[in-house]
Amino acid sequence: MPSSRRGSGSVTLPTGQVLAIHTRTQDEEDLPHATKKTMADHLRKYESLFTLTPQRMRMIVEAFKDTLEAGLEKPKQTVPMIPTFVFGWPTGKETGDFLAVDLGGTNLRVCLVTLQGDGKFEITQSKYRLTEEQKQEDGQKLFDFCAECLKTFITTNLEEGTVKEGELLPLGFTFSYPCEQDKIDHGRLIRWTKGFGAPNTEGHDVADMFRASLKKHNVPAELTALINDTTGTLIASAYVNPATKIAVIFGTGCNAAYMERVGDIPKIKNLGIDDQADMAINCEWGAFDSFEHEHLPRTKYDQIIDEKSNKPGEQAFEKLISGRYLGEILRLVICELIDEGVLFLGQETYKIEIPYALDTAFLSLMESDPTEELLMIIGIFTHFFALETTLAERQFFRALAKHVGRRAARLSACGIAAIVSKMGYLEEGCAVGADGSLYNKYPGFADRVHEGLQDIFGDKGRNIVTYHAEDGSGVGSAIIAGMTKIRKEKGLYLNC
Ligand code: GLC
Repeated sequence: MPSSRRGSGSVTLPTGQVLAIHTRTQDEEDLPHATKKTMADHLRKYESLFTLTPQRMRMIVEAFKDTLEAGLEKPKQTVPMIPTFVFGWPTGKETGDFLAVDLGGTNLRVCLVTLQGDGKFEITQSKYRLTEEQKQEDGQKLFDFCAECLKTFITTNLEEGTVKEGELLPLGFTFSYPCEQDKIDHGRLIRWTKGFGAPNTEGHDVADMFRASLKKHNVPAELTALINDTTGTLIASAYVNPATKIAVIFGTGCNAAYMERVGDIPKIKNLGIDDQADMAINCEWGAFDSFEHEHLPRTKYDQIIDEKSNKPGEQAFEKLISGRYLGEILRLVICELIDEGVLFLGQETYKIEIPYALDTAFLSLMESDPTEELLMIIGIFTHFFALETTLAERQFFRALAKHVGRRAARLSACGIAAIVSKMGYLEEGCAVGADGSLYNKYPGFADRVHEGLQDIFGDKGRNIVTYHAEDGSGVGSAIIAGMTKIRKEKGLYLNC
């Protein structure tokens, strides 16, 4: 009878959830586990699949730059380079009370932001987790839910008298999906991303849909700006750190915004806006290389994710990078090794064979497991998947997670480099405000982006520095609502 080691303990996940670990690590003769050598051989294969050389990165940057230019040139391009009608940088002097509703990929957030000027603000907020059903049910119903949450928030958080009888509070609506805009308070949803599929919404003006819900639920708020999370992040970050030139979100989705000279946006020449004016561009770069798949190094796992997604062919760049997909990439590799009879022979594997069962949060936990025995990985596999692992297997999972995470960070560096190089920011350098669960919670993600920038640009790559951005979807949205109010009071571009 082979001996077995038992142990128990607990690990606290970044989410605050406590993972109890009751471990029975059986000796390798007990279950037919793969040998250390077999795992090392497999690792080499995956390492070469997920590794991006500096040369390949530079090629991607060049193609990316051309794509950004094409999006500014003509409407309806794959990467749509959306003019946001957010004109220029904030002065830091914007003041007032603003409501913000943020419909993100995972949560709905409702905020009251008080801008105090001098780059200072105060924020009160509530968060609601969206269910998978809500993401797929009728669009108007989703906006009704947003309106109801906002109403509850106003009733419970605003002191009586804050909203005077018959008055409406200005509201910034952060709707982080690609919307074609021809003014700041309207936008037609081009397509859902991040797994959303609510019918009767694509092709519709989502600002008007939300207005209808606000009216229906008698919410004392007036939608004054429809913004993307990246644009909000750009403006909020510049409000507190004026060196910011680019904003990037690495969360459930992945996207960037930056400030462009209107004269360099040929597709809006007809609007008669001053060529020298600045306007924020929401790149929607997650769509880079969609449909054609000419430039990105897609593995067969990436292809499976794409084919099985609700939007095959779309968001090709995002599907290699964002938090929605990284765990799934790792899971698909594990499933391949199960099918090949390498992993978990004689064990019941159905739990890990469920699509999206391996959350991206696990990936970062696997990589950062500080214990010699890799206890965190033992915990994840026993607790969530009822699977026994050997140390060699756990080391393999950790290394694999690292390759998948590193590829995502290096591809992100390619996107940032494309904007930097297009705008000529390399010599003087610039700050990149970054936000999202991946950037904030994945250990080493930022370092790898920086390392990637140096691989692309050499030493000068050090001039480009990402930092944890200010809350764009809440604070940024309020500042934009404030900027828009001031612009309109000055009578500037009243139709926009
Ligand atoms: C997706 C959305 C985009 C958003 C990004 C980050 O790419 O299409 O609008 O900015 O996710 O949330």
